[in-house]
Amino acid sequence: MTSILVLNGPNLNLLGQRQPKVYGKTTLPEIEAACRQHGEALGYDVACQQSNHEGALIDAIHAAKGTHAGIILNAGAYTHTSIALMDAIASVELPAIELHLSNVHARESFRHVSYISKVAIGVICGFGPHGYILALDALKAHLDKDA
Ligand code: DQA
Repeated sequence: MTSILVLNGPNLNLLGQRQPKVYGKTTLPEIEAACRQHGEALGYDVACQQSNHEGALIDAIHAAKGTHAGIILNAGAYTHTSIALMDAIASVELPAIELHLSNVHARESFRHVSYISKVAIGVICGFGPHGYILALDALKAHLDKDA
């Protein structure tokens, strides 16, 4: 079965307790369960990982090559700073969707910069946890187009 990696970066393990007015009350395990369930409906096996460490995220992206058909990446604050994560996505040549729960463009100007956008096939932001479902649908449409 085709496998998709849902990769979450720093502080996203705290979803549900972290700034609920910005990020909502849904926890990361709840989001991951919804991703697995929606993935199953699409015919995908969804693997979920989270790390607070930039190097571990890079390792997960490298390991995705040959294992997963695409990546949904919420890189958290590393989105706005990490050339290394951008290079990792470019290196594995897997389709990646950049995702944010919040509408980063309606927030502080430092969140308007994204290194991930430069190598992502598209960006979904502002739809809260539902964004992950939208991203799975978008990735499926992308993969089906290339099939
Ligand atoms: C975020 C937005 C980032 O700017 C922030 O640093 C996060 C979460 C989001 O999902 O809205 O950690 O990626």
